[in-house]
Amino acid sequence: MGFYTDCVHAGQSPDEKTGAVITPIFQTSTYKQDGIGKHRGYEYARTANPTREALERNVAALERGKHGLAYASGMAATDTILRLCGPADEIVVTHNVYGGTYRLFAMVLQQYGLVFRFVDTADLREVERALTPKTKLVYLESPTNPMLRVTDIRAVADMAHAIGARVCVDNTFMSPYLQTPLELGADIVVHSTTKFLNGHSDMVGGIVVLNDDATAQRLRFLQNAVGAVPGPMDCFLALRGTKTLAVRMRQHEENARTLARFLAGHKGLASVNYPGLPDHPHHELAKKQARGFGAIISFDVGSLERADRVLRSVRLFTLAESLGGVESLISHPASMTHGSVPEADRAKLGVTPGLLRISVGIEDAADLQADLDSALR
Ligand SMILES: Cc1ncc(COP(=O)(O)O)c(C=O)c1O
Repeated sequence: MGFYTDCVHAGQSPDEKTGAVITPIFQTSTYKQDGIGKHRGYEYARTANPTREALERNVAALERGKHGLAYASGMAATDTILRLCGPADEIVVTHNVYGGTYRLFAMVLQQYGLVFRFVDTADLREVERALTPKTKLVYLESPTNPMLRVTDIRAVADMAHAIGARVCVDNTFMSPYLQTPLELGADIVVHSTTKFLNGHSDMVGGIVVLNDDATAQRLRFLQNAVGAVPGPMDCFLALRGTKTLAVRMRQHEENARTLARFLAGHKGLASVNYPGLPDHPHHELAKKQARGFGAIISFDVGSLERADRVLRSVRLFTLAESLGGVESLISHPASMTHGSVPEADRAKLGVTPGLLRISVGIEDAADLQADLDSALR
């Protein structure tokens, strides 16, 4: 089926018993069993829940994958993937990953013997240098947060597979409407469903999609064993969100292109980062491997003082963490998403005190542009 059809229908059908068109919220922790060892596929809600299963099937279909596994947050999803690795295994990671991912890897999982090599995965020579016989996983974010650097997913997958390593891509920024990493050779896709998949800023969740049966079985075991599962209400909200993913993303993107052009033409900015701009260093690659450029833009206003003035002047953009909702948000990466990254590392990444990031919503582009214009002035 086409993507718009899958958004609405994949993984769900009217309820057999009642005819309810929308998958019900199965708000139950346990299920009646019919006798010793006899149940109807559901025993306990940490192990399985029909609302969660509908979400898992739906997003798996959108990512063009076979298996979906939902989690209580994007971080819980990533944490469970990393449990496929053990002590002394090496993981090559995009150096510019979301700050929370950096925190999980460098400040939590490293203690358990996992070895992380943070490199600029947009530079294939750096990836090649970082791969060793001990590399088990390459963990990519593309485009990155907040610098919007783009990694050649297919090229990295080829390099990783040649030494028997797997590739996981955090596809949160693009959503499957714009990019399907499994079709580019990646083995695992992870999302914070909190963002574009839900799209309405009213839940926190994560999801993993993959094709390999044995790995999916192990992740299913871990999902139950570790227990970082989402509640049925949050699954319902995410599933309601994915129904409109395609139409929302179209509008997010169109608005983002307009605002990126406006910002690029603005005299008072030190830099504007958006892969859709022709002078972005990875514009051609972004065009080749994705169906659009996304709705996240970052720009440098030059100093912390000016960033603060802009943040206090915007009216339509809301100063808040997160991204991907229908409403436009603005944030200050150095103190917010990347607050847990050491200052020296932040500077190396380009996350300067004057850098601002916007998540472009689906409001009228003219209103958003006017808001930024007056705040910058
Ligand atoms: C790219 C990316 N990945 C993962 C996460 C973590 O997701 P969650 O906040 O749902 O745990 C975020 C959160 O901002 C993110 O931006």
